[in-house]
Formats: sequence, C-alpha cells, structure tokens
Amino acid sequence: MSVTVRVPAKVNVQLAVGSARPDGFHDLANVFLAVSLYDEVTVSPASSLTITCSGPDAGQVPLDRTNLASRAAELLAARHGLSPDVHIHIAKDIPVAGGMAGGSADGAAALLACDTLWGLGSTRAELLSICAELGSDVPFSLVGGAALGTGRGERLTELEVGGEFHWVFAVADGGLSTPAVYGEFDRLNEGVAAPAPTASPALLDALRTGDAPSLAGALANDLQPAALSLRPSLADTLQTGTSAGALAALVSGSGPTTAFLTKDEESARSVAEALLASRTCREARVASSPAAGATVL
Ligand code: C5P
Repeated sequence: MSVTVRVPAKVNVQLAVGSARPDGFHDLANVFLAVSLYDEVTVSPASSLTITCSGPDAGQVPLDRTNLASRAAELLAARHGLSPDVHIHIAKDIPVAGGMAGGSADGAAALLACDTLWGLGSTRAELLSICAELGSDVPFSLVGGAALGTGRGERLTELEVGGEFHWVFAVADGGLSTPAVYGEFDRLNEGVAAPAPTASPALLDALRTGDAPSLAGALANDLQPAALSLRPSLADTLQTGTSAGALAALVSGSGPTTAFLTKDEESARSVAEALLASRTCREARVASSPAAGATVL
C-alpha cells in the first residue's frame, strides 16, 4: 500500500520584509499564490526511513534527514509515538533551491501522505502546526490557492482569487540559499529602520478581481535587490521577459527563479520562447494560478 500526494509550487506576489527579529527571522507580509508546477510525494511502508528522488534536477535534492519530507515524517511519527518507517519518493518537477518553495512543498506533501498512510486523521489545525514547525513556507504548501502569511510567513489568512493568472518561470543555473539572501537584505538595509510590513490593498484587490494588469502593477518583492546583488545576471533575465511582452517581472521569493506575469496563456508561451532563445536562463516553464494545495491522489 502506498499514498501519493500532489503539491504545488508558489510565487510570492508581494513579499514585504521587516527588520530582523531577535530570533533571526524577519516579520513578513507575504502574499503567496500557488502555481501549477507540482511535485508528487509517495510514501509506502518500509523497515526504516528512506528517501529517493527522481526528475531532471534530482541530483540537487538532499536525501538525508535535512530533507523536509523526512523531517515531516519524523515529527508526525514522534507526536503519535510511532516509528517513522516509511520509504518516501519525491517525483521532483518544482525548481530546486529556486525560491518556489519546492522543499517546503515536499514537507507538506510527506506530512499529509504519512498522516493518510498511518490512518491518523489529524485535523487541519494539527497538520498546520507541524508545517509551521518545519518551515515558514510549509503551511502555505498544504493550503495552496492564495494566502497572506504574517509573522515569519507561517500565520495564514486565505485570500479570494477571482480569475486565472498566467506565468512564465525562468529557471536559473544553480540555486540561491534563502538565509544568504535574507543576510544580504540585512546588509543592504543596515541602519535603515524597515517599516512594519503590510499587504498592499491594491494587490489584494487585483487578486480578488482576477485582473492581471492591476496585479502586474502591484507585484513587489523586497528580497529582489538582495537576490540581484548576489546574482547580478538575473537583471538580464528580467529585462528579456519584459521586452518579450510580459506585463511584469520579478524575482520569485529569494530567487534565483524569475517570474513573469502575462496577459494570457498564448503570451506566456511566446515569453517563454524568447527567454529560452536569449540563453539568460536554463529553462522556462509556463504555469497558471491559483493551484490547489497538497492533495491526496
Ligand atoms: O523558515 P525557513 O526554514 O524556511 O527559513 C529559512 C531561513 O530563511 C531562515 O533560517 C532565515 O534565515 C530566513 N528567513 C527569515 N525570515 C523569515 C523566513 C525565513 O529571515 N520570515
């Protein structure tokens, strides 16, 4: 017997970052939108906790206990006095270390899959609390759709989305470390008192009405200068996508994946072609949003 869970990637349509807190995290107003790039995580009974990964970028995925999927199995098992004896297989399609919450997605998916396999019937609230323990972005991977994350991003308010949005994601060569990008944010903003992060009313309105040009005008990522400082070549990728007709471009989360909002699916395809032809990225993926959160298949 095995259980498979499908889980989406995310883009942050607004990432407002406050000052570093005493615990090292930053207070955020983080507007998450789930997009239709998915990992599938399958768990099956085994004699001990093991993990494998398939997909073009599988070689970059850690297969030890630092993988959020195995940490999810361990945390859930510990809460119920069980031994986490499962084999976890990740079929990886979300860019690795790309700022699209691929690792967080696998954590949320493994948690839901193990809960189902072991017949625990945890409540949504119980699962969300384990997700928050695993990482700031993990609760959103469980929930999907669109949500505002406050605190360090883990406290979610679900948001209404009134239409479909079309995106291109340009995958860069190599990843960027999230702590390194936040560290660069601190360095660039040293001595500047950051205002308390708040969600933009115009952005929330654009999501609610499903209006792509309005959303394009409101996209904002406070981590973008830090990601560009660590990876200056991303500026060329952003420029290529906007010249090719994207409504707007931004770095996805902590990067280095860049996101391009387009007016429709056809435009997304032509922006993706232009990005690939420019050789300013390794891969260009077309996707739409919102996408459902972690789902048992
Ligand atoms: O919560 P998560 O494990 O995903 O965070 C990874 C790292 O990103 C943290 O160790 C921290 O350096 C940084 N981070 C932050 N503020 C947040 C979320 C993450 O500084 N709100």
